[in-house]
Amino acid sequence: MPLKYPLYRALAGSETLYRVDGLRHLMEWQPLGIGRWLVHEHYADLYPSQVLIQAVIQAQEGYVALTEEEWDVRLEQRTASTQRPSIGLLAEDEIAQGFQECVDLADWTTFGLSAHASHWITARNDDEVRSALAWSNERDAALLVMGGGSNMLLHSDWNGLALHVGIRGFRVLKEEENRVDVVVGAGENWHHWVMVALENGWHGLENLALIPGQVGASPMQNIGAYGVELKDRFLWLEAIEVQSGALKRFDGAACAFGYRESVFKSSEKGEWVIVRVAFALDREAPLQTSYGAIQQELKDLPESSWTHLDVAKAIMRIRSTKLPDPKELGNAGSFFKNPVLPAADFERLQNAHPQVAHYPQSDGGIKVAAGWLIEQAGWKGLHRGTHGVHENQALVLVHYGGATGAEIWQLAQDIMNDVHAKYGIHLEPEVNQIGRN
Ligand code: EPU
Repeated sequence: MPLKYPLYRALAGSETLYRVDGLRHLMEWQPLGIGRWLVHEHYADLYPSQVLIQAVIQAQEGYVALTEEEWDVRLEQRTASTQRPSIGLLAEDEIAQGFQECVDLADWTTFGLSAHASHWITARNDDEVRSALAWSNERDAALLVMGGGSNMLLHSDWNGLALHVGIRGFRVLKEEENRVDVVVGAGENWHHWVMVALENGWHGLENLALIPGQVGASPMQNIGAYGVELKDRFLWLEAIEVQSGALKRFDGAACAFGYRESVFKSSEKGEWVIVRVAFALDREAPLQTSYGAIQQELKDLPESSWTHLDVAKAIMRIRSTKLPDPKELGNAGSFFKNPVLPAADFERLQNAHPQVAHYPQSDGGIKVAAGWLIEQAGWKGLHRGTHGVHENQALVLVHYGGATGAEIWQLAQDIMNDVHAKYGIHLEPEVNQIGRN
């Protein structure tokens, strides 16, 4: 059947659009910054253009055929969804400094939800953080500080500056007998740092292997897993104040760490950009193997031979069977916190549900496994097309592709309401909600 021109095409996995007007003429719309397109006109007189036009016409691998209506919708949708932001478009010198427009945060967050930051910059040292802050303060731009994007749910586009902290580096501050103090740039990948520490024989962080995110985000919510929390190995952190650009050092007391909590999530929220974190490690740190799952993993090795590396490997195996890898399936780890109940409330819950998984706390409260409540309420493994609840760990919400933050939030609310109706317990999200109206 002869082809009827024009033909409408898109580049798979991208916003680029094509209109083929004939065998020798192709128009290409390439997204550029905010609400703008770079339009190329290709004449297929020469070899490379002839190859391109043939691939596009035949909708070969990498190209998708669209109807005229679908094509129009895509063109309009992007133009509408990338409206000129209130803080204006970038000047050439700002682009030269590294500022970018209209960056899809899907690539920078582990949930992988598409939402555009109107402006973006990566800061590689303290001075770059300060100039980015000055830039956003001058424009009164909303500021979103990004680490590894592993603990956030984006509800909408970000009309303001997304500041990605890219400060790298490791430095030994002090070594005395077995004690080693090391300061790490906030932009280092957390798991990479845990592995660097292990390779050097600096121990104490192995139970926190494979936690996604960057080092600078780890104190924000006092990350924890398998019996160890960040605060156990924390020495201090340095942060730059958003308003003044001043550098301040916070020790553990000043951070007021709690279960998935710190001042940076409460009283000091939005006031600081963490630029580096110092850790107190120990070559002879005792192995933390109290979790049954760890002992189970190590049962084939004689206990006297267990090393820190063995524990790290066991943790990595446990995590990879229970928790989805964000590179393969969008997620932000535990979406909810485990609720801590007063003893009397817990007793009532346990009388009605004797099997409930729980952990007594040192302050007399009882932490209840939210994953158990969610699973018992029937949500584990639920699919809602684009998103759902992970099949191996009910605390984790997952994004299969094409979901919006609002849809994931709706699922979270449905779960919270149902758990409340069934058990009288209010679940709280552990993941930060960004841009929620
Ligand atoms: N459980 C279920 N069904 C589930 C999940 C859990 O019944 O789908 C019950 C089981 O009885 C299980 C118990 O809950 O024995 C505890 O489960 P798990 O050991 O997986 O730990 P968790 O309480 O669900 C917490 C952290 C995780 C951390 C693990 C291991 C929170 C919110 N989550 O999960 O942290 O890896 O302990 O220490 O405290 C994260 O913060 O992103 C995260 C993954």
